[in-house]
Amino acid sequence: MIVSATEMLKKAKAGHYAVGQFNINNLEWTKAILLTAEEMKSPVILGVSEGAGKYMTGFKTVAAMVRAMDESLGITVPVALHLDHGTYEGAKTCIEAGFSSIMFDGSHYEIEENVAKTTELVKLAHDHGLSIEAEVGAIGGEEDGVIGAGECADPDECKRIADLGVDMLAAGIGNIHGIYPENWEGLSFETLDAIQQKTGEMPLVLHGGSGIPNEMIKKAITLGVSKVNVNTECQLVFAAATREYIEAGKDKQGKGYDPRKLLAPGTEAIKAEVKAKIELFGSANKA
Ligand code: 13P
Repeated sequence: MIVSATEMLKKAKAGHYAVGQFNINNLEWTKAILLTAEEMKSPVILGVSEGAGKYMTGFKTVAAMVRAMDESLGITVPVALHLDHGTYEGAKTCIEAGFSSIMFDGSHYEIEENVAKTTELVKLAHDHGLSIEAEVGAIGGEEDGVIGAGECADPDECKRIADLGVDMLAAGIGNIHGIYPENWEGLSFETLDAIQQKTGEMPLVLHGGSGIPNEMIKKAITLGVSKVNVNTECQLVFAAATREYIEAGKDKQGKGYDPRKLLAPGTEAIKAEVKAKIELFGSANKA
């Protein structure tokens, strides 16, 4: 059931658990995540970056595929189709294309411009029944070619953006996209605590969820994180399972070269990863 992320995140914040955002890249990814969320009776958010949208030939294609698949598989758990790190133009395109949720990432603008653009998009998203995520303090690491240094958001700026009526707020707390470097200092719980104290009931979003130790994730959830984004870990397990299949020569046995067989181990690996994350985030049986 495709819905906005508003209700599922309010429930998560009140219930002290988090909903996973898993990024999708193609049909296999989408199917694996939807089936696992249904099996676990968990709400779920499908994240689509601007790059992934382009790869899948456009946001319209993505919305059509996800909506049709949700229906064909008879998915009953709440599913939000969410633009990840959207530009101002991308956010508008997704509203038209049939997404149920958007993120406008204005973190690279000066705060005044971030406020102005977020304000406009909050109204547009809500007029169309979508939820909206905003960001304060760039998340470090690489996300579709955008590289930023690890950053901690200013809690007062977080409050300003939260008060614009967004439904969820991403704030840098030392988290980084992609694989964490050896010398990573960990999450700044001090910053997170200060942000939560200023923003109250606002569901907070933890980006760069891959590779953060489980105990840190759990602690972040106790401090108000209600949505955790995971992308890289699904990519890594998909690649490893596919590599194993090919290195074992299975693509050369019988019709092992059939893409439906070739991509199956990777798809199963994504399912196992998503299942483990749903257990960790505490959203199983919360649908
Ligand atoms: P990772 O790729 O580090 O899991 O980050 C995902 C993310 O935050 C998407 O916005």
